[in-house]
Amino acid sequence: MTDTKGHLEAEDFRQQGHRIIDWVADYLAGDSRRYPVLSQVAPGDVADRLPDDMPVRGEDLDLMWRDFQDVVLPGITHWNHPGFMAYFGITGSGPGILGELVSAALNVNGMLWRTSPSATELELTTLQWLRRGLELPEDFFGFLTDTASISSLLALAAARDAAGLDIRRRGMAGRDDLPRLRVYTSDQSHSSIAKACLTLGFGLEGCRTIPHDSEYRMDVDALRRAIEDDRSQGIRPLAVVATVGTTSTTSVDPVGVIADVCQHNDLWLHVDAAYAGSAALCPEYRWCLDGCSEADSFVFNPHKWLFVPIDCSALYTRHPEIFRRAFSLVPEYLTTPESGSVVDLMDYGVQLGRRFRALKLWWVMRAFGLNGIQERIHHHIELAQEFARWIDDQPGFERMAPVPFSVVCFRARREGLDAEELDTFNLRLLEQVNASGEVYLSHTRLDDGIALRVAIGNLATTSADILRCRELLTDAVDDLSGKPRPEKR
Ligand SMILES: Cc1ncc(COP(=O)(O)O)c(C=O)c1O
Repeated sequence: MTDTKGHLEAEDFRQQGHRIIDWVADYLAGDSRRYPVLSQVAPGDVADRLPDDMPVRGEDLDLMWRDFQDVVLPGITHWNHPGFMAYFGITGSGPGILGELVSAALNVNGMLWRTSPSATELELTTLQWLRRGLELPEDFFGFLTDTASISSLLALAAARDAAGLDIRRRGMAGRDDLPRLRVYTSDQSHSSIAKACLTLGFGLEGCRTIPHDSEYRMDVDALRRAIEDDRSQGIRPLAVVATVGTTSTTSVDPVGVIADVCQHNDLWLHVDAAYAGSAALCPEYRWCLDGCSEADSFVFNPHKWLFVPIDCSALYTRHPEIFRRAFSLVPEYLTTPESGSVVDLMDYGVQLGRRFRALKLWWVMRAFGLNGIQERIHHHIELAQEFARWIDDQPGFERMAPVPFSVVCFRARREGLDAEELDTFNLRLLEQVNASGEVYLSHTRLDDGIALRVAIGNLATTSADILRCRELLTDAVDDLSGKPRPEKR
């Protein structure tokens, strides 16, 4: 190999690149099944096999490739594996991977319009495509961030600015004139909302959780009472975060009614549709965004259920000027002749440098088309519903929440166990199934106790994988109950 002090000559790059593309193609075509979906290494195993210091002289990339196989791959939990059904199943699809590759090659920083006009304009255009696909209002301005956590943080920072408390200039610390601020969200919302509150200086007490109803949706009467109660104590209500597709059960908060409460109380409404937003690209699931047109900000993650490799989060707002007011700070070295007449995406958040994320999104949207995306989402929902029906038919299992999309919460039933023993049994069941290496499931806690979750979102997952998951579950229940397994023919 030519010695270029690390950087590769074109021919060497081509050779290495071809090998890696071949590997990726095989991995996506099914080779991922050769690995246990949940990594089986123990803590420290990977680090123990890595040297303490970086190499002094550049190393041979063939050797590196071998180490990738021998040292790194065993420590990979394969999110792109068809048996990955934990958390939210996702897919880094072929088109998305190609977009990511080209984006790395270009290595542009889209901080300003002029630092790559295409980065800004492709971002605004793909987000407009998505907005139209979701039938969100025309005045929703959309841009990309890395994750829903950051999108929600930015949205609540904008809500803080919109409250007119001069926090941008004066900050919050040491001010007697500043009331305590409160954000409301259901007790089923994602932890990123509470984290945003603590990051923004509201404190965890600044995030008031509202109880849920029998289907894990925010109880709006309780929300109304909490707002009144806070006002009576001199606390200033600031924003409500509604969730469309909660993390545990994918329940959908009644956003329309919550929007009325927000309007009545002059509160910012942020909607977190990180997972379920994608479903609304299908006309039959658009109901899940009912009321979202009234939101002040709205997030959903193409890296969750739109086949775009992580990371990619779409943040929309009807008040882009408030985001700019909250965040824009332009030193001389970042001014350009066109400043003010173009969108400079650095003005809408904290970060300056921005990856060209829109390229992979564009690749995916064009390669799949709206119909392709809809078909895949339907298929995932069908697989999940089929699994839910099976659970409902099994005397040894029970479903623990409604299944609006592609996530099923359930548990094994055992006679004669108290609540704690039943939780322990189900956690052991989870560990046993995951140890198979064939599927990876996760868990949560619901009103009745620990629930296991099957979450379908990988393009390669088939009915046969669901069937295998069922077998693994029944076999593990038999094992844990000391029941001999029937002979397999
Ligand atoms: C409803 C919801 N919101 C936010 C998040 C956080 O997403 P991210 O990892 O993009 O920050 C999740 C993650 O699962 C989620 O389920």
